[in-house]
Amino acid sequence: VTSWEIERLRTQLAEAEEGKRFVLQGGDCAEGFADCRPGPIADKLKVLLQMSMVLVHGLKRPVLRIGRFAGQYAKPRSSMTETRVVDGQQRTLPSYFGDLINRAAFDEQSRTPDPTLLIAGHAHAATTLNFIRSLVDGGFADLHHPEYWDLAFLSKAGLPPLLRTEYERMRASLADGLRFMEALGETTIAELTRVEFFSSHEALSLWYDSSQTRTVPRRDGYYNLSTHLPWIGDRTRQLDGAHVEYCRGIKNPVGIKVGPGMSSDDLLHAAQLLNPANEKGKLVLIARMGAGKVSAHLPPLLDKWSKAGRHGLWLVDPMHGNTRAVQVGGATIKTRSVDDVLRELALAHDSFARTSVRLGGLHIELTGEDVTECVGGAAGLREEDLTTNYASFCDPRLNYQQAMELAFVIARTFRRI
Ligand code: PEP
Ligand code: CO
Repeated sequence: VTSWEIERLRTQLAEAEEGKRFVLQGGDCAEGFADCRPGPIADKLKVLLQMSMVLVHGLKRPVLRIGRFAGQYAKPRSSMTETRVVDGQQRTLPSYFGDLINRAAFDEQSRTPDPTLLIAGHAHAATTLNFIRSLVDGGFADLHHPEYWDLAFLSKAGLPPLLRTEYERMRASLADGLRFMEALGETTIAELTRVEFFSSHEALSLWYDSSQTRTVPRRDGYYNLSTHLPWIGDRTRQLDGAHVEYCRGIKNPVGIKVGPGMSSDDLLHAAQLLNPANEKGKLVLIARMGAGKVSAHLPPLLDKWSKAGRHGLWLVDPMHGNTRAVQVGGATIKTRSVDDVLRELALAHDSFARTSVRLGGLHIELTGEDVTECVGGAAGLREEDLTTNYASFCDPRLNYQQAMELAFVIARTFRRI
């Protein structure tokens, strides 16, 4: 990426802090090299575009889209090893740490870390971004043509009928609004209809991120040119750790996951380290508490945050605190329930509404593919359905229907954000 794109993102994040934009950050948990193909990439963009159209309509403000893509290849794991029963024998191998480190197949060779994957990661990330840029330049994301964003595998019945009708109604009303503004000669129309995507990934492998960190002509400081928005995960946010140390040295905006284990002192200290000048548009706080914990853990953090007068954009990740393991046909599968996701979102929304801190956006794991990884939602996916098409290499993602449902809930109910 370029330093001027990074600076543009910082400006837009600052606007989001002021309530002028809503942020939608989403994509795979673990992006795979094998999915660096036109179909899966375009489908992911289509879901993000459809969701943003619903959000723009409901929230009456532009949506800033940030993909978890073009470099989301490294995964932190709770356990260094994984044990499976293979041919009646227990076998223990290193865990899968993402395509940047090793491979997902359960055999010795695949699970052995391979440093050449760092180079392959760079190539796949560059190819992905290049393809996204050509799609956007070619008019794929033009708001005048939302019909381009229909997913091939879905018939008109892909969304439940009521949502489909509402979606078509929004699409028509948006097209009318655009025509009306164009007729008035509205000058902001180009800005409104120009759709951009920014990239983000967890800056977990510092070999990967730091080797792409450079100075650039005519600007001060160091830029991580592998992505627009690197973030620090919940497992690597130690204040005296390498990830905070690396991220405090770069000019990019930086995200940090805020889990239930984070104290308000640690939060304020992290903000001081990562954004010492307390600038708008520099820091993104991603709350991921879990539906059962959010009401107890989030309000005290928001209270201290607002009293400290810190700048930062708060997003809610209603996925990572709600992961659980279920047994399906003898296998252990990670899933999340759409009900828990919606519950955490609603409770987080209430917590924000009681403070002066703004809920600035959403961080989710989704895919444009027709997967069965999260249970619940309008289609009523059950645990026994999970094995039908479970394709994630890591955490369970929302499928198209479930992601759209989320967008509709936000558009309908989040009036005060
Ligand atoms: C993730 O975003 O995939 C992730 C691992 O999140 P967290 O650090 O919040 O657990
Ligand atoms: Co994840």
